[in-house]
Amino acid sequence: MEMLEEQRENWGTRGGFVLAAIGSAVGLGNLWRFPYELYDHGGGAFLIPYIIAVFVVGLPMLIMEFGLGHLTQRAAPDAFAHGHKRFEFVGWWSTILGFVIISFYAVVLAYCFSFLWFSFKGILAGGELPWAAEGIEGVKKAEDFFLKTYLGHTTGSALGAIRWNIFWPLVVTWVVMYLCICKGVKLVGKIVWLTVPLPWLMLLVLTVRGLTLPGSIQGLAYYLNPSWPELAKATTWRFAFGQAFFSLSLAFGGVMITYASFLHRRSDLNNNAAIICLADFGTSFIAGLAIFSTLGGMAFVTAQAGTEVAINQVVRGGAGLAFIVFPYALAQLPYSAWWSFVFFFTLVTLGIDSGFSITESVLAAVVDKTGWRRGLVLPVMTVIGIAVGVIYTTEGGLNWLEVVGDFIDGTWGIAFLGLTECVVLGWLWRIDTLRTHANDRSDWNLGRWWNYAIRIVVPIVLGTIFFWSLFEDLTQAGGFIFDEQGNWILKNCVGLTVVAAAPVLAVAVSLIKSPVRAEQYDNVPGVKNPNLCAGRMGGFVAFCLAIASAAMLAVVVLRGNISGKIQNYFLFQSLTVAIVAILISNYIVDKHVGDYSFPSWLAGWAGIIATLDISAFLAVTLTNLTKKAPTATATHAPAEHLTGVSDVILGVMLLMIIGGLGWCFYRAMAAAGKDESDLPEPSSGPVD
Ligand code: PHE
Repeated sequence: MEMLEEQRENWGTRGGFVLAAIGSAVGLGNLWRFPYELYDHGGGAFLIPYIIAVFVVGLPMLIMEFGLGHLTQRAAPDAFAHGHKRFEFVGWWSTILGFVIISFYAVVLAYCFSFLWFSFKGILAGGELPWAAEGIEGVKKAEDFFLKTYLGHTTGSALGAIRWNIFWPLVVTWVVMYLCICKGVKLVGKIVWLTVPLPWLMLLVLTVRGLTLPGSIQGLAYYLNPSWPELAKATTWRFAFGQAFFSLSLAFGGVMITYASFLHRRSDLNNNAAIICLADFGTSFIAGLAIFSTLGGMAFVTAQAGTEVAINQVVRGGAGLAFIVFPYALAQLPYSAWWSFVFFFTLVTLGIDSGFSITESVLAAVVDKTGWRRGLVLPVMTVIGIAVGVIYTTEGGLNWLEVVGDFIDGTWGIAFLGLTECVVLGWLWRIDTLRTHANDRSDWNLGRWWNYAIRIVVPIVLGTIFFWSLFEDLTQAGGFIFDEQGNWILKNCVGLTVVAAAPVLAVAVSLIKSPVRAEQYDNVPGVKNPNLCAGRMGGFVAFCLAIASAAMLAVVVLRGNISGKIQNYFLFQSLTVAIVAILISNYIVDKHVGDYSFPSWLAGWAGIIATLDISAFLAVTLTNLTKKAPTATATHAPAEHLTGVSDVILGVMLLMIIGGLGWCFYRAMAAAGKDESDLPEPSSGPVD
C-alpha cells in the first residue's frame, strides 16, 4: 500500500531523526516529573509498572506510530485518514491534546528561563541566590520566592491578574521555538545535535557531582527503596502509564507520527524505536539519581550544621520539585549559583526540543490538511499559543496548569486515546501492513506477535487501567464530581470537560473537507466494494458474544447486591465468552489480510468490544482483590541506607539500559555493514 512514492522533505541523516525523536521524548518530563512520580508512588516498586508501560506498551506503540507516519508520509490526522476517512478524527484528537499540552509546557519552560536568569544574576552578584537561607527556614524562603515573589500565587480557582514577569519569558519561549522550526525539519535535524547531547552532558555532570556528595546514599535510599503495597493501587499504575506516554511523546500530539513522516524512505524504524525507548528511560532513571543524591547531600549538610532538614520533609510534587526543593538544596551546597545555572540550563535545553516537536506536529497537521503555507500558519499558531498560555501566567495559573496536566497526561486523556489508536489500527485497519512496512527497512524484524500486541495486549492493558482507576475514583469518599457537601468540584469538572471535549472537537475538525486532499486515498484496494466484505457470519456471531459478555459484566458492576456466587458465575462466564469472541474475530481479521476482500466491520467491532470486556473483567477482579489491601502504608519512613533490594534494582536498571543500548547499536552496525543491494526493495503492497 505504498501510495506515496515521492519523497517528502526529510531529516537529512539517520542521526538527525533519532536525535530529534529523542529530543522530543527526553524533556521536562524526565528531570522534573519522573523522579517525583517515582518517589510518590512506591520508590523502586514504581519501576515495575513503569517498565511494563515503556517496553510492553510503549515500544510496540512507538513502532506503530513510526510505521504509520513513515508509510503515509503525513502528519497524524492525514495518516489515520489513509486507512479510512472515518479514522481521521483519531489524529485530530491527538493533535488537539498536543496543543493543550504545548500551551502549558511552554509556560513551564518560561519558568525555567526565568530561573536561569535569576541564577545568572546570582553568579554576577558573587554567588548569592535570591532564595538562599539556611535550615528549614530556607525551604520556606525558597517556597516564598517561587510562589509569592515569582508567581504571585493565589489559591482557589480565580485566575487574577496577568504576571508580566512570566508573560515575557513565555513570549521568549515561543519565539525560540518559532526560530527552531521556521526553516523546516532539516534545520531541526541540525539543532538537535546541540539540544540533545548538551543536556545529557550536563545531567551527567550533575549526577557525578550528586553521587560524590557526602550523604548521597541516603538520598538514593529515598529514591529506590521499594514500597511494594503501592502496587496494589490503581493510581500507581495510572501514573506510571501516564508518565510513560508523556515521556515517550506517545499518542499526544502525534509527534512521533509526524517526525517519522519526514524520514527517508529506506530508513530503519524498529531499532530506532527501541533506541528511543531505552534512551528516554535511561535519562529518567539517571535524572532521578542526580536529583535524589543531591537532596541527600543537602540533608547531610543541614544535619552537620545542626539545622537538620529531612528529605521527606521537603519533597513535593508538581512544579515544587524543580522550582522549590532543588533550588533550595543547591543553595545549601558550595558554588550554588553556578550549579543552579547548570541545572536550569539543562532544563531549558531538555525542554525546548520537546516543546517545538509538539508545535511542529500541530503545524504539520494543519498544513497537510489545508495546504496553507508553513510560513503563514506558524506565526498564527505562535500567537494563539501565547494567547492560550496567558491563562497560566496569571496569579492562579499554577492551579490550572496542574489540573490540566493531571487530566491530560495523568492518564484520562491517554488511556482513551492510546486505546483508540491501537484498536483502530489493530482491528479496523490492516495492522500487518505496518509490520511488513517496518520490517522491510529495519535492522531487525518484528514477529507476528507484534500484531497481537497492538490488537489485543495493549488495549487490554490500557483498558484495565482505565476501568480500574474509574472504579477507584467513583468509589472514593465524597465523589469525583461532587464533594461531601454536594458542591461541584470545579477542578475535576473542568479537567473532565477538557478531556471529553477533545474527541468531539476532533470529529468536527475531521468533517471539514480538505481542499488539498481531494480523493487521493480512494485507491485503497478492496475497501470500496461492499461485495468484497468477508466473514460476515462469523463477525455477527462474535459481535453477539462480545455484547453478551458486556451485558454480564454490566450486571456484575451495576447490581452490587446479587449474591456472591451468581456474581462470580457471571464474571467468569463473561471472560470465557469474551475470549471466544476475540478468537473468532481475530481469525476473521487475520485471514482476510492481503487478499482483495476485507474483513467484516462487525468482526472488527466484536474484537474491540471483547478486548474491552476482558479489561473490565480484569479491573473488577483487581478492584475486588485490592479492596482488602492495606491502604495507608508508611511510604518513605526515614531511610538511611539502600536496602539489598534497592542495590539489586540499581544494578539491574543500569545493566538494562547499557546492555539494551549496546544491543541496539550492535544491530544497527551489523545492518549498516550489509551491502545496500542485499536489502529488499520497499514492498509495494501488503505482503502476507
Ligand atoms: N516527552 C516530553 C517530555 O518528557 C513531553 C512531550 C509530550 C513532548 C508530548 C511531545 C509530546 O518532556
